[in-house]
Amino acid sequence: MDLEQKENELKSSIEPDRLPGHVAIIMDGNGRWAVEKGLPRQEGHRQGVETVRETVRCSSELGINILTLFAFSTENWQRPAWEVNYLMSLPEKYFNSELPDLVRNNVRVNLIGDDSKLPARVRKAVNEGAEATKNNTGMLLNFALNYGSRFEIVMAVNKLIKDAVDGKIKGKINEKEFSKYLYTADMHDPDLLIRTSGELRISNFLLWQLAYSELWFTDVYWPDFSRIHLMEAIKDYQVRKRRFGKV
Ligand code: IPE
Ligand code: IPE
Ligand code: MG
Repeated sequence: MDLEQKENELKSSIEPDRLPGHVAIIMDGNGRWAVEKGLPRQEGHRQGVETVRETVRCSSELGINILTLFAFSTENWQRPAWEVNYLMSLPEKYFNSELPDLVRNNVRVNLIGDDSKLPARVRKAVNEGAEATKNNTGMLLNFALNYGSRFEIVMAVNKLIKDAVDGKIKGKINEKEFSKYLYTADMHDPDLLIRTSGELRISNFLLWQLAYSELWFTDVYWPDFSRIHLMEAIKDYQVRKRRFGKV
């Protein structure tokens, strides 16, 4: 069976009414993918952008409501400067070539993370993407850039304190109200979390939001992650029984 045939078969076996509404992905393994091929780590990141392209297109075609991609963590600044610089050149490249497609495919772009520390060129690229797609009504595409979940929670607490001091909060707040202070305010929590590259950890991603997400791990490195893997993860999700603590 050729790949296209396999892809089509998988696609038709996915139940459209039981799709995970929100898929979050920790895109990991670019460096190892490259090093194992005798290539510089940048090559892995470059190829990883191609995977982002395909994953976004496929998710939007399938009818996923929200796709959240972990692209750069608050901890990733500790990498060598050349690697950080290379990673910071990628949003611009991605939007330069992909924005017309995102617009056409009705995808809405959004950034989650502390953008104040991002280089101006990154902010500009993502903001232009967000601006050009702000009236789109299809899939919401969140790029997590300079994102760290503990940072997000502490930021939320600080905003909350400010609102309390300003007299905007009456009495105690509950979980629902607290979640409105997070970057993901008004988004439903991820139904499915995918992490590539064989690492079995969360790495400070969406700690609050992943409370009841289904987790799916694969040994495949991000540059090799294909539509087929995405659809396999979704199929696996569709046979799981989510209980949310009930019986
Ligand atoms: C994911 O690949 C990209 C980022 C974290 C920015 P890595 O660069 O972490 O690749 P490995 O894990 O070193 O193989
Ligand atoms: C997580 O990958 C962050 C992103 C995918 C952006 P890392 O490669 O930074 O995670 P660790 O260091 O292996 O936990
Ligand atoms: Mg990694």
